[in-house]
Amino acid sequence: MKRRSGFAVMARLIGLVKPLTGYMILAVLMGFIGHLCAAFITILGGFAVLDVLGYETAIGAKTVFICVLLFALLRAVLRYAEQGCNHYIAFKLLALIRDKVFQALRKLCPAKLEGRDKGDLISVITSDIELLEVFYAHTISPVAIAFLFTVVMSLFIGAFHPALGLLALAAYLVVGVVIPLVTSRLSNSGARTRRSGFGRESIVKVVADRECSESTGLAGTDPARTGLNNAGIPGGKSPRRNAAMEFRAKSGELSSFVLDSLRGLPETLQYGQGEARLAEMNARTDGLSGDERRMKRISGRNMAAANTVILLFDLCMLFASAMLCQAGKVDFSGVLIPTAALFASFGPAIALANLGSTLQSTFAAGNRVLDILDEEPVAEEITGGAALDRMAFGGAKAEKVSFSYGNERILEDLSLVCEPGRITGITGKSGSGKSTLLKLLMRFWKTDSGDIRISGVSLHSINTASLRDCESFVTQETHLFHDSIRNNLRIAKLDATEEEIEAACRKASVHDFIMTLPNGYDTPVGELGDTLSGGERQRLGLARAFLHNAPFLLLDEPTSNLDSLNEAVILKSLCEEGEGRTVALVSHRQSTMRIADTVYTVESKTGRKS
Ligand SMILES: Nc1ncnc2c1ncn2[C@@H]1O[C@H](COP(=O)(O)OP(=O)(O)O)[C@@H](O)[C@H]1O
Ligand SMILES: [Mg+2]
Repeated sequence: MKRRSGFAVMARLIGLVKPLTGYMILAVLMGFIGHLCAAFITILGGFAVLDVLGYETAIGAKTVFICVLLFALLRAVLRYAEQGCNHYIAFKLLALIRDKVFQALRKLCPAKLEGRDKGDLISVITSDIELLEVFYAHTISPVAIAFLFTVVMSLFIGAFHPALGLLALAAYLVVGVVIPLVTSRLSNSGARTRRSGFGRESIVKVVADRECSESTGLAGTDPARTGLNNAGIPGGKSPRRNAAMEFRAKSGELSSFVLDSLRGLPETLQYGQGEARLAEMNARTDGLSGDERRMKRISGRNMAAANTVILLFDLCMLFASAMLCQAGKVDFSGVLIPTAALFASFGPAIALANLGSTLQSTFAAGNRVLDILDEEPVAEEITGGAALDRMAFGGAKAEKVSFSYGNERILEDLSLVCEPGRITGITGKSGSGKSTLLKLLMRFWKTDSGDIRISGVSLHSINTASLRDCESFVTQETHLFHDSIRNNLRIAKLDATEEEIEAACRKASVHDFIMTLPNGYDTPVGELGDTLSGGERQRLGLARAFLHNAPFLLLDEPTSNLDSLNEAVILKSLCEEGEGRTVALVSHRQSTMRIADTVYTVESKTGRKS
């Protein structure tokens, strides 16, 4: 994970608001005026009291009464409109960010997602993005509002006497900035030594998150959003991984653990590991709920401190203005109004104080989202480049290709030719790099050295969409979507007719099987295709490839899960279909290799023709 400072994350997140700047300004203005209305209801009350006591005032009790009514009404309407505006911005942006994340994932797929924690990804896509709602709906505008409001109220109170204005300014700063900073520093130094454990957060949590944010607004009482506030709140200098980041990361790990446990349920049961798995789940959950409890305690302490300080400052204001009055510097209204004004104007500062406790988890979530957006794909998509001619496919050629995963050399100086219209067999021991070679031909990964040419054009200068259109890759594991068999096949050719689908299934020797299913081609495939056998899945994968009808067919162990009867049918189809089609056929089975025109053996990191 890349480490960014809170400031860097905030700057990037704010950058996304650009298209909605108008709404943001509107929200800030409405919030600002709304808070002024609320404060002036009390302040006008002060004027009414002065009027009743017979003091000379600018406004009479009657005007005050009308104004108070008006302000109360305005406050309600503005509050509603401000919240509406903020949430409009937030959810629009969440949709935009989700869109960006999915685009990024598409670019990264498949190489960068191989071996990546899927549960953690789900947690980023769902709960982390969801958490940004707090930032967009409840962070940007409160900060701006608090700033404006502090300036205006300090000036208003300062108009009675500059010293009182300064006192008010100090009060706002202490409540809105100093207290959150101090409590977070204190709590973080304690938390760092105890940082361990996991939380009760799963994929399901997202829904709760959303509901919570809607109902609690600024309060930030949801455990997932109440982060331990590290030294670096916005503008903070420390980009190290803080407690909130740790918390988000561990939540992601827990999602992975749950997903993993679900997938491995049969193994867990078979080997009697249920108790152990449950114990680990409990330990992780307890750990994280402990963390949540601590976070709550911190925000509770924060609130208690803020309330105490507010009372103290109110008393100070009363005392200071009374002293000034005694000294003849201000009259009685200079005592009553500033005290009432300060008393009624802590709203925006409290909103800021509340933010402190949630901001770190928001930034931690933002950091994780930015990580995905910033990740560079292994092989970037080529949008320009040469387009391949489907009709005149000229075969594939690898010349002295070397490739490593990280430092691990897999292929070295491998050369191979897939003659057009021929079946090229590739065999070799397990782990020798056969599947890797096919992935290189697909340009999922890039070669370290050497060149791969398709139809005589270097792979690096072929338009990616055109390349994918010319190649059908049947992997060792066929993924089936939670949908009908027909729709699962159709992804290979969206406008395929019934006849084409059926013909492809016959070639893949799976039509008869489909017809025995209760709803034929409309039968839904269970989650992850686990209601089908390995062989059935494999044949559906082949049917997809036949349907795609690309001139270059890459088959990775297409017969590994088949009995000899089905193998024979498929090999026959391949031979017949092979007319005019170029096939790269990976298999360790001698029987499958029989149909190949040329066989290469990938061995000890070099390609050797046999
Ligand atoms: N994404 C990956 N990252 C790192 N190592 C990998 C990755 N994919 C495969 N490998 C390793 O590369 C080697 C070759 O894998 P593979 O091409 O799948 O072999 P084969 O298909 O010949 O059995 C294996 O040792 C495997 O563990
Ligand atoms: Mg393989």
